[in-house]
Amino acid sequence: MKNHSMLTPFFFLFSIFHHITVATSTPPYIAVDNITLDCGSFGNSKAADERDWIGDKGSKYGPMEQNNESNPSEAQRQASSVESIPYRTARLSYSQFTYVFPVTPGPKFVRLYFYSAAYSGFTMSKDFFTVKAGSFTLLRNFSASIHTDSSGKKYFVKEFCINVEKNTKLNLTFIPFISYYAFINGIEVVSMPMDLYYTSSSSIIEGKVPVYVGQAPRFYINYSMALEMVYRLNIGGSSISPVQDTGLFRQWSEGGRTDYFLSKGVIPRDPSLNLKYSKIPKYIAPDAVYQSAVTMGPDRIRNSMSNLTWELPVETGFNYLVRLHFCEIDPGIHVSGSRVFTIYVDYQLAEETADVISWADNSDTPYYKDYVVMIQNKGEDSHTLAIDLHPRTDATFRDAILNGAEVFKLSDPSGNLASVNMAPPSARAASKSKTKKTMFIAIGSGVGFLVVASLVCFMVLCKLKKTERYGSYHPLAKWWCWFRPDPYKREFKRRTASSLPGELCRYFRLDEIKTATNNFNEDLIVGVGGFGNVYKGLIEQGNITVAIKRMKQESRQGAHEFMTEIEMLSKLRHVHLVSLIGYCNDKGEMILVYEYMANGTLRHHLYDTPNDPLTWKQRLHICIGAARGLHYLHTCTKHPIIHRDVKTTNILLDEKWVAKVSDFGLSKMGLDNTAVSTLVKGTWGYLDPDYARRQQLTEKSDVYSFGVVMFEVLCARKALNQRLQEEERNLASWARKCIERGTINEIIDPYLMNKIAPECFKIYVELAESCVSDHGIERPKMNDVMEKLEFALKLQEYAEATKDTNLEVVSFRVATTNGAPWYNNVYHGQVLESTSGTELSTTSTGLSYPGLDSVPISITNQDDSSKNKNNSS
Ligand SMILES: *[C@@H]1O[C@H](CO)[C@@H](O)[C@H](O)[C@H]1NC(C)=O
Ligand SMILES: *[C@@H]1O[C@H](CO)[C@@H](O)[C@H](O)[C@H]1NC(C)=O
Ligand SMILES: *[C@@H]1O[C@H](CO)[C@@H](O)[C@H](O)[C@H]1NC(C)=O
Repeated sequence: MKNHSMLTPFFFLFSIFHHITVATSTPPYIAVDNITLDCGSFGNSKAADERDWIGDKGSKYGPMEQNNESNPSEAQRQASSVESIPYRTARLSYSQFTYVFPVTPGPKFVRLYFYSAAYSGFTMSKDFFTVKAGSFTLLRNFSASIHTDSSGKKYFVKEFCINVEKNTKLNLTFIPFISYYAFINGIEVVSMPMDLYYTSSSSIIEGKVPVYVGQAPRFYINYSMALEMVYRLNIGGSSISPVQDTGLFRQWSEGGRTDYFLSKGVIPRDPSLNLKYSKIPKYIAPDAVYQSAVTMGPDRIRNSMSNLTWELPVETGFNYLVRLHFCEIDPGIHVSGSRVFTIYVDYQLAEETADVISWADNSDTPYYKDYVVMIQNKGEDSHTLAIDLHPRTDATFRDAILNGAEVFKLSDPSGNLASVNMAPPSARAASKSKTKKTMFIAIGSGVGFLVVASLVCFMVLCKLKKTERYGSYHPLAKWWCWFRPDPYKREFKRRTASSLPGELCRYFRLDEIKTATNNFNEDLIVGVGGFGNVYKGLIEQGNITVAIKRMKQESRQGAHEFMTEIEMLSKLRHVHLVSLIGYCNDKGEMILVYEYMANGTLRHHLYDTPNDPLTWKQRLHICIGAARGLHYLHTCTKHPIIHRDVKTTNILLDEKWVAKVSDFGLSKMGLDNTAVSTLVKGTWGYLDPDYARRQQLTEKSDVYSFGVVMFEVLCARKALNQRLQEEERNLASWARKCIERGTINEIIDPYLMNKIAPECFKIYVELAESCVSDHGIERPKMNDVMEKLEFALKLQEYAEATKDTNLEVVSFRVATTNGAPWYNNVYHGQVLESTSGTELSTTSTGLSYPGLDSVPISITNQDDSSKNKNNSS
């Protein structure tokens, strides 16, 4: 793919960085035993990576032989891609031979290097043997010529972890099957920290004991077990060579095929990122592992419908240790609760709530988690071990993250690590093609999708209009292919990538919409507007709730305009904008499908509602969110996108009370339900007088409407209430009058009385007042509004953190520009705590609030209240 080559210089640069860091720093761990034995050769030699190897001929390590007949030999022809040390030479024998390593007690890495080639005096590929280390069987009935490494190479390393007891030596014995030979090219023995993979006493104290998935809370990897490394992946990053490791000489593989990961979900390595090793020792994994990661990307909707998945084929009949490396390196995430996900290992729940920040107490702080899972032998040799990360819906960001993964096979109770029932090569010939395909597949179900999406994102936008051309295109089917991808069908994926029009915005057929809404069942109407109805619908086999907006016949417009707008809307993605998921323009219908906002509109939490009143801090958070969404609209493209219809019913709240602006762009489409002339669009009460006068639309018109929203939030009353006296009808002008007269405190939501910190109140009121200034030029920009609101929130939080719980009368005066006091006695001290219901219901809302005191609340009809929800217009 083209994009691959684009990234190559990138990776190249990264690898240069690698070398610099390696060359200049001492590794975090210095291995006491660090033996590298080049079998079949003599004397010292240096490998390409500058490591020293010693020949086994005449070495103190052996080999010891039964009949003294093993042969050192050189590969007759060595492919140029194969490194000469230690692969050029090998020791081969038709009878058993043993290497003896006198090493210090403790756990060791034992790495066996094999290169399956033609060696003089030996028939090519007639190798079939068993390798034992003390009482452990590392390989049984093994043939290097059949085994190839994950990338199909004929040379590979098998890595084991073995604990050497006191007063014993590490013996490695090679036992060939009758009339076959055994061989080995190189052996490496390297000490490792006691607690690196084994459960040491310190691991127990620190609670770093693996969870036995689906079986028990703990699994102890005791020193009587041997481990075989099966996968070691630097997720989101490139491969890490042994000399770049932490002194343990481990090879880390690239965590996935890069073309899968050319997506928004990848956090590429930042070599300058300063990691804080406050939770785990520095030798656990190299920095590079933690400095890159794979996430699912920013699309909440798609994330919540998918898993970030790694599928790793493994042999059955063993326990596996799965170590997951985490480090929150996203600069946007510093607090726990932001990115929380569930971890499944082998389709079983392993971790209900994974929250990297809460584990590590900080961002940029490496951490790891261990899981052990039993892979039963249910008749088949190979099994796909899946690691699934699924975002939790109660987190701020619906996303998951993974920086690295290691998978080890654990020896069975008889000390065996080898797979059972392996027959010699001839007998296996038939099934050869399917054996040992240890290629790993790393597919973020979500990531795979996002890659495809990002690769074509621009193309798609241009193509959207041409959707009709893809007549029989069935979006739902392909959707599931991405989320349940068949890892071996890469070609299919590529084709998909270049021809699909609907990644950013899904196309729905009318019958899908009908299924989702139970044929536009009236019971599912959650909102009614001038343009038509909004239905609550279920898609993805009932798993995902969406809001479906169906245009009335008369508000439908030209198909061309519709598609142009969809194109624009689908480009706008922001946490504080309601996401457009898809559309349908089948059979003359015009339908938009949005993410569902569980808590409905802001308005229905302010007045005329059975809902609990929002706290002042909640209201501030909502205003900040909405301001951010509007700021994004005003600044995300070269020409600002003006909402034109900012109001409390266009600010929706999700299940976490995150505010999202909806219906942006619709005013322009004529799809709004405005009660104003066709020339000037907007809603009375929110309408910028400057715009109405001059009919010149700027961002400042949205700022005006937002000011009205701020007063609505503060006072819990309608922007325009025809039933009030002339003077009070328009909230913005009434609020300004009250500010002038110093009586603004008299019209605020009584629930808020005594609850707003004076400093915060001052900022808020000043800000709202400046937003509704007569002339656009006097109004702040959305950016300033955002910042001032954030500041107001800080003041409120500070006051709440420091204040007495029992507030007495607080009064203050503030001079307006003309010097008149504009409000005072905001705090009346204990007014509401003892207020009776009747007093409460004399407020502008005419409603009593539950939770405040013992006023009985009347529960309104369930249907009515549900209709209020998600009224997105
Ligand atoms: C392993 O080494 C020890 C010490 O040299 C020796 O006593 C023992 O026999 C060896 N075992 C095997 C199986 O070669
Ligand atoms: C994620 O994976 C788990 C375990 O494999 C599975 O139970 C769950 O259904 C998956 N969720 C999605 C949304 O694919
Ligand atoms: C190894 O292969 C031989 C020959 O086929 C067979 O007899 C033996 O059972 C095999 N061992 C194991 C453990 O499968």
